This record gives sequence, structure tokens and C-alpha cells, in this order.
Amino acid sequence: MCRDIWAGFLTQRRYNTDKNEKEVHGNMKMRKAAGLLLTFALVFAAAFGGMSAETQAASRIRLNRNTLTMTKGERFRLRVRNLPEGARVTWKSSNRRRATVSQNGVVRARKAGTVTIRSRVRFERDGERRMRTFTCRVRINKKSARTNSLVVYFSMPETDENTSNVDAATGASITTSGGRTMGNVQYAASVIRERTHSDIFRIRPQVAYPTRHTPLVNQASREQDQDARPAIRNRLRNLSQYDTIYVCYPIWWSDMPQIMYTFFDSYDFSGKTIIPLVVHGGSGFSGTVGRIRNLEPGATVSDDGLSIYRDNIGRSQSRIINWLNQ
Ligand SMILES: Cc1cc2nc3c(=O)[nH]c(=O)nc-3n(C[C@H](O)[C@H](O)[C@H](O)COP(=O)(O)O)c2cc1C
Repeated sequence: MCRDIWAGFLTQRRYNTDKNEKEVHGNMKMRKAAGLLLTFALVFAAAFGGMSAETQAASRIRLNRNTLTMTKGERFRLRVRNLPEGARVTWKSSNRRRATVSQNGVVRARKAGTVTIRSRVRFERDGERRMRTFTCRVRINKKSARTNSLVVYFSMPETDENTSNVDAATGASITTSGGRTMGNVQYAASVIRERTHSDIFRIRPQVAYPTRHTPLVNQASREQDQDARPAIRNRLRNLSQYDTIYVCYPIWWSDMPQIMYTFFDSYDFSGKTIIPLVVHGGSGFSGTVGRIRNLEPGATVSDDGLSIYRDNIGRSQSRIINWLNQ
């Protein structure tokens, strides 16, 4: 049957040589397109026609990245897409001194150079054990000259969607970007870091906050009533290295979370420029820029910070970039 179709095409092409050149050209174009379509259909049929559903599923397995460029010290999670049910994945680095890979696919860039990360997927197909191997070539660059900007952030993603406490304009606060689950502020901070090549510091509470909405808002309210200073678990080093500090936080009960007060009490930002970014549920900055200014009288606290309504965070990337470029 295939031969007949192609024979038909050839006959018509010969016939067309007698016709007006323009018309021939148009017809040829159409036939060329039809021919291409037919070729594609035939190749597709040959490739997949006789395949079982399991075989087709196996042919769709792939790695989220085949090549990757990283900077020394960075992490990136590789993932196998379209895994068949019950499949087992293992990971290996061709050079563990350059980059390691965890059994979850998290690559850690340790030394400049190139390295190949290999992923083996073992699964069953049509009753037989199969294995497929995928690779990702990773180029690791040296860290560029010391950065003089730092992004500091505090973010508390919630794990439920309870929005009953409308007065506080609170609610679920989780954004997924590139497959990662993040807090809203965390996402905004990551965009700044990426665009400005800044270092980043996450303020981590000594005692973890509840991740469910109601206990979280209640605790935040109590802390505010008591003017508490919740302890911070980690410490910011090399502060003298930075002259610009992006400070990113959510609005809690029309103010900064109390842990931000602990943060400002812990360091002296004299001589530095502080640029605030807030994510809120309707209250905007809520006067927090002035409060930071009072807490850090020796610093220049920018009036040109950015406030983002939490429901817009998913489409805020270009807004953040434009703001950074101002
Ligand atoms: C305890 C608490 C109190 C909040 N109070 C306010 C508020 O007074 N005004 C407001 O606009 N948003 C308020 N919100 C909403 C948060 O600012 C918003 O959900 C933000 O995106 C949280 O960022 P995160 O997910 O990075 O922690 C509150 C959220 C929480 C958890």
C-alpha cells in the first residue's frame, strides 16, 4: 500500500511539469507538505504501531535536564519524568569530587569542571525486567568574584488552605516554581538572588512554627502581643562583605513577624543599604519600612521597596525583575 501511495505522488509530479510554473510551484509546495506529513505518519506508525501500552509508557521516560550549568556550591534537583509504576531509580556521578548526587537526584556542585550524572531506571515491561540509562552533562563554573549583595528572607509556607481568618487576610501561602514547593517570600527572594547573583540567608527559627494556618496565626498574634523576640537558629556571617541587603518578609498582623525584630536586634547594618520586599494579603508594607529605619538608624533604608500581593506571587517574576532593573 505504501508503494502505491508514493507511486501516485510521482505520477502527479511528472504531470505537473506541463503546467504553468507558478501553479506547479504552489502544487509542489502542497504535495511536499503532504509528503512530509505522510512520512511522519509512517515513521510514527512504524515506531509505535506494534507497541504495547507498557512499551509506549517506557519510551516516554526522560530526565528533566540533559545538560546543566551550575555555579560551585549550588544544588539542583534532577528528576526522572514519566516513571512507570514501581520503577526504581538510582543516581551516580562520574566524578564525586566535582559533583555529588543524592539518591533523590539532588546534584551538589563542588568543584569547577564538567561531570556526568547518570540515572538508571529499572522497571518491568511485558513481564520482563528492563533498565534504561539517562545522563545529564553538568558544567560547573567557579564562583564569580565576591558578591556585595545579600538577600535575607523569612518565609513560613502553610500546609493547609484555611482562609477563615479573613481579618488577618491570611491563607495558604505556597507557590510552586519549577517543581519546587516554596513559601511566597521564599520564591520572591529566590528571584532576587538569581537576578542579582547575591548570596542568600534564610532566617530559621530556633523553634519551628506550626505549618497549619490557625495555630500559626494564633502564635504570631501572641508573639506580637508580648513583643516577643523568637530565637534565630542560624547566624549571618561575613556581614562586612555586603553593602546592599534585600530584606524579604511576609506581613503578619499588619507588621513584620516578630522574628524580624530579633534579626534587626542581632546585627548592625550601619553604612549599608537595606531594600525591603514584602508579600502580603492586602495590607501592603503596613508601615514596616519606617520601623526598619528606626531599628537600623545607621543604614539607608530604601523607600523604593516592593510589595507583592500574595495571590499575584505566581506571576510576579517579571515585576520583580523590572523593579530590580530600575
Ligand atoms: C500569621 C499570619 C498573619 C498574617 N497577617 C496578615 C496581615 O495582617 N495582613 C496581610 O496583608 N497579610 C497577612 N498575612 C498573609 C501573609 O502576609 C501572606 O500569606 C504571605 O504570602 C506569607 O508569605 P510566606 O508564604 O512566604 O510566609 C498573614 C499571614 C500569616 C501566616
